Amino acid sequence: MSLPVLRTDRLVLRPLTAGDEERLVTAFAGEGLDGSPYTSVDLADPEALRALLTMNLVEQRTDGLGHCVFEVDGVAAGFGHLSAFRQFPPPFLSMGWAIGGGYRGKGLATEAVQALLQHAHDTVGAPAVWALIHPDNLPSKRVAERAGFVNVGWQEKLGQSVEVHVSLRPSRTQPRRLVRT
Ligand SMILES: CC(C)(COP(=O)(O)OP(=O)(O)OC[C@H]1O[C@@H](n2cnc3c(N)ncnc32)[C@H](O)[C@@H]1OP(=O)(O)O)[C@@H](O)C(=O)NCCC(=O)NCCS
Repeated sequence: MSLPVLRTDRLVLRPLTAGDEERLVTAFAGEGLDGSPYTSVDLADPEALRALLTMNLVEQRTDGLGHCVFEVDGVAAGFGHLSAFRQFPPPFLSMGWAIGGGYRGKGLATEAVQALLQHAHDTVGAPAVWALIHPDNLPSKRVAERAGFVNVGWQEKLGQSVEVHVSLRPSRTQPRRLVRT
């Protein structure tokens, strides 16, 4: 199974295709973009974004993971991923997200992240999903918090200290009460 199509109230999350590159370049070249200072590549730079997306197209997955586009009314507004990386290897999964400048501040990233998390925990069965977030990236930290991630520590990424945020698979059973005897 590759990453399936996921639907929320306002979004369709579907696997990234080659045809999405120029659509996403348009979304991230939009007015109001802050230059994405907290991502490893400048998403507003068309060449850098194309290179990132092309690299992420190579994968052919069978484990329910992968890169996806966030569509609003059929328009590519952002993208994200659910992947396995060596920092915290499987069964733990990594998640990332980005929304184009013209679509920010409407709760869309939060909605997309919640859908990806539900898929990760409930369908893929990941016990924990982690995301690395720059400490000054307040919008992204808020998205993580609202989606249920908890800040658990620090990690070095490209020479910078970034925060490690973790979402644990919700427990379906009641915790056992400790009974004093
Ligand atoms: C981070 C990002 C995905 C947020 O997308 P979004 O669709 O605007 O996010 P949402 O609307 O779901 O939520 C943003 C939250 O941050 C809050 N916020 C926005 N700017 C803020 C700021 N400067 N300081 C504090 N909070 C801020 C918003 O109020 C909102 O919280 P609320 O819903 O409680 O009001 C988007 O800014 C982005 O793509 N940035 C560039 C790429 C990036 O940084 N990706 C994450 C890498 S870890």
